[in-house]
Amino acid sequence: MKPLALRPQQMKRSGIREILEIAVRTPGCIRLEVGEPNFPTPAHIIEAAHRAAQEGKTRYTLSAGIIPLREALVEKVRRFNGLDIGVENVIVTPGSTYSLFNAFEVLLEPGDEVLVPDPGWPTYDTQITLAGGVTTRYPLYQANGFRPAVADLEKMITPKTKVIVMCNPSNPTGAVSTEDEIRQIVELAQRYDLYVISDEVYEELIFEGKPTTAARFDPERVISIYSFSKTYSMTGWRVGYAIAPNPIATWMARACEPNVACASEPNQWAALAALTGPQEVVGEMRQAYQRRRDLVCDVLKEKGLFQYMPNGAFYIMIDVSQAQMDSYDFCKELLKVKQVACAPGATFGPSASGLVRVSLATAEDDLVEGVRRLCDFVEERAVSLKTAAVR
Ligand SMILES: Cc1ncc(COP(=O)(O)O)c(C=O)c1O
Repeated sequence: MKPLALRPQQMKRSGIREILEIAVRTPGCIRLEVGEPNFPTPAHIIEAAHRAAQEGKTRYTLSAGIIPLREALVEKVRRFNGLDIGVENVIVTPGSTYSLFNAFEVLLEPGDEVLVPDPGWPTYDTQITLAGGVTTRYPLYQANGFRPAVADLEKMITPKTKVIVMCNPSNPTGAVSTEDEIRQIVELAQRYDLYVISDEVYEELIFEGKPTTAARFDPERVISIYSFSKTYSMTGWRVGYAIAPNPIATWMARACEPNVACASEPNQWAALAALTGPQEVVGEMRQAYQRRRDLVCDVLKEKGLFQYMPNGAFYIMIDVSQAQMDSYDFCKELLKVKQVACAPGATFGPSASGLVRVSLATAEDDLVEGVRRLCDFVEERAVSLKTAAVR
């Protein structure tokens, strides 16, 4: 038989999934590997979807989404992000995962290079591969709080570079860049005539500091990516959106047609209810994540493994290099010995091979217990390595 297409076979497997698959088969295991809010979707959002379905709003919609939702998003990005756009610049998709792919599809020619953060969310690389592009990683150093520095990015630019991907707040580090840092990256993109895809899906989950919308510095070259998943605990509803300048927005909307047709109609009405309904729940979830972040940092300080304080999102990277294990082996062994699942750093990029990611989207007691066990495991490994060295 003729060979299958190469690109899907070139996709790297997500290390998060790899651990997840073992974790679901490990009874009583503490799950700190996935980035999924553990809060229920607020009741008024569920009711809005129910009502929409009962009213027959169960059809295909415009590819870029229903007009009332897009109008509400125009208002949201004006108020929250300081962007002055029209409905035609809003593309609602089945989750922001597709918004990202949608942007790559519209921007990339085969062989075009895309700068992505290392460590960064592994899906960027997979999508770039599928879209025919080439991933180039720019380093994020812990010494700089895992925030991107223009000089490091600039070194990676070649004549083939076309796009810079930024993720702020960051998955997996929880780092939040300053307004000045974001502005400098957009200015770099202007100097080299690059596009910017700014993944801001954690924009509402910032504990210290303010969110910065990269597109404010150049709305003509920045595509902003947002989601209902994290802000309203709506991961399974699959509603995200991109804000893009024209003609990019037109082509993104067009590319939705053959790929996904549109996002689910009842879920788009639910998203509208999320946006226009009570917002207290967003602040409550943010406070809960912040409290968990503080608790985890306390445990790390007590155990001598504290390195930095994430300022946003719901993740922390923990340096486990003392255990002298590859991060995949570390995670598998930790699961076996201590029944704790976390994500191997290497899945986020080569720079994170001595780290693991812990998700704070887990109930407090489990989280604290899981991190304690993780620290104990590192200590036990370090002691046994020392003992072996003395012998
Ligand atoms: C950085 C980042 N961007 C985008 C997404 C996609 O979210 P969704 O497709 O649920 O909107 C995620 C999900 O984990 C993420 O961590």
